[in-house]
Amino acid sequence: MATTQRLLLLLLLLSLCASHSCVPVAAASADEFPRDGTVIELDDTTFDWGISAFDLILVDFYAPWCGHCQRLAPELDAAAPMLAQLQKPIMIAKINADKYRKLAEKYEIDGFPTMKLFMHGVPVDYTGPRKAELLVRFLKKFVAPDVSILETDSAIHNFVEMAGNDFPIFIGFGLNESIILDIAREFRKKAWFSVAKNFSEQMKAVYDFDKIPALVSLHPTYNERSVLYDPFEGQLLENFVRQNQLPLVVPIKFETLKMVNGDQRKVFLTIVEDELNERTLKLIKILRSAATANRHLIFGYVGRKQWGDFVDAFNVTKRSKLPKLLVWDGNEEYHVVVGSESLDDDDQESQISRFLEGYKEGRTMKLKMTSFSVFGYISSVTGIRTIYLVVILVAIVIAIIVISIRSADATPVRRTQGESEGGDAGVSQPKSSENYQPRDKED
Ligand SMILES: *[C@@H]1O[C@H](CO)[C@@H](O)[C@H](O)[C@H]1NC(C)=O
Ligand SMILES: *[C@@H]1O[C@H](CO)[C@@H](O)[C@H](O)[C@H]1NC(C)=O
Ligand SMILES: *[C@@H]1O[C@H](CO)[C@@H](O)[C@H](O)[C@H]1NC(C)=O
Repeated sequence: MATTQRLLLLLLLLSLCASHSCVPVAAASADEFPRDGTVIELDDTTFDWGISAFDLILVDFYAPWCGHCQRLAPELDAAAPMLAQLQKPIMIAKINADKYRKLAEKYEIDGFPTMKLFMHGVPVDYTGPRKAELLVRFLKKFVAPDVSILETDSAIHNFVEMAGNDFPIFIGFGLNESIILDIAREFRKKAWFSVAKNFSEQMKAVYDFDKIPALVSLHPTYNERSVLYDPFEGQLLENFVRQNQLPLVVPIKFETLKMVNGDQRKVFLTIVEDELNERTLKLIKILRSAATANRHLIFGYVGRKQWGDFVDAFNVTKRSKLPKLLVWDGNEEYHVVVGSESLDDDDQESQISRFLEGYKEGRTMKLKMTSFSVFGYISSVTGIRTIYLVVILVAIVIAIIVISIRSADATPVRRTQGESEGGDAGVSQPKSSENYQPRDKED
């Protein structure tokens, strides 16, 4: 009896406490949030207030113990004041999603840190860069109009400046914005679009076009530009925008891999020893002209020195002869052309032509990447949830393999049967999947 009473009393106290002094911020109004560019710390009582108080607010769902979160925090601190003073300000907030699990569940947080941009209360996953300056640039993209209208030369200049280096920039000189509006919406997270309504003759020289209307594409990172003239028809326009997401010859690395994956085309991949040495620079020039003539393929190169793990998955070892050529499907299959596996020093142009011919004629051997790199790569592109799925699938595959090996061992007759069925067993290398480790979310 006495215990029940004590329990009741305790409950009463707790509920009093909850409705009053213990949770004072529950009644916080929107005005109480700082707008000066400090990162706002939210909790379960202030969360809804926070995301409704601002048109645009980026929320970092973090866990105090997570190393990537700790590294992200100072970047957010640095980005917040820059974002707060934009014409359309973006606030930054964070919430301990490990502590407030209900909220984490509600927003389907499956890894730390996860960032979501709430636009008028509606969350969009933020998958952009995490360094302060890049993050600011990336977010500006969200608040920019789909197609900016530029009325003077200096407006054009400012637009290009503001856009920065992360995305390709498209400027339609003398182009009606309605022509590029649909494609601009489709690529709104990946590129900047504008039309220049009024500009001086000088712009023709600066942006390298000789008649209007012209759609000019710039890729500041790679110092590339190209131009499309009338007709701006659906498929032509789309191909132009799509192909100019990437430079003519792409250095394959973590960041570009995501874009390569988003492209339908296969990758003509050249594996070199070192991306930066003299020989590679010469080779890139040759690849550029091959790429111009073969726009149905993405031309990419990667250095063993720069990204050994990735290169290893294409059966490249210390003893391999480089540069090595292959065509990669962007997933886990690749083709080598029999007799053109690698490049000698002299007349590389002809060797590349022979490779492309051989590929066209199907004188190829289909191989599979070893799974380690593919999984690392998939995880970086598609997020944690997919990895779990992949892990489960891999587990099932391994289980099947183990079971079939065991039964094959038991009955030698069945083994021969298995070999003739698995025609391409020689090229897949499932055993290296043991190397797989789920990546954390750092990019
Ligand atoms: C058109 O652009 C030129 C060059 O920038 C500028 O001098 C001029 O003022 C602009 N005219 C209008 C009407 O905006
Ligand atoms: C742009 O295109 C739209 C729709 O095709 C048309 O209504 C508009 O008059 C055009 N604007 C100019 C300046 O040509
Ligand atoms: C991997 O490369 C070695 C030579 O470096 C070659 O002997 C072997 O056949 C290659 N494996 C596959 C699956 O192509």
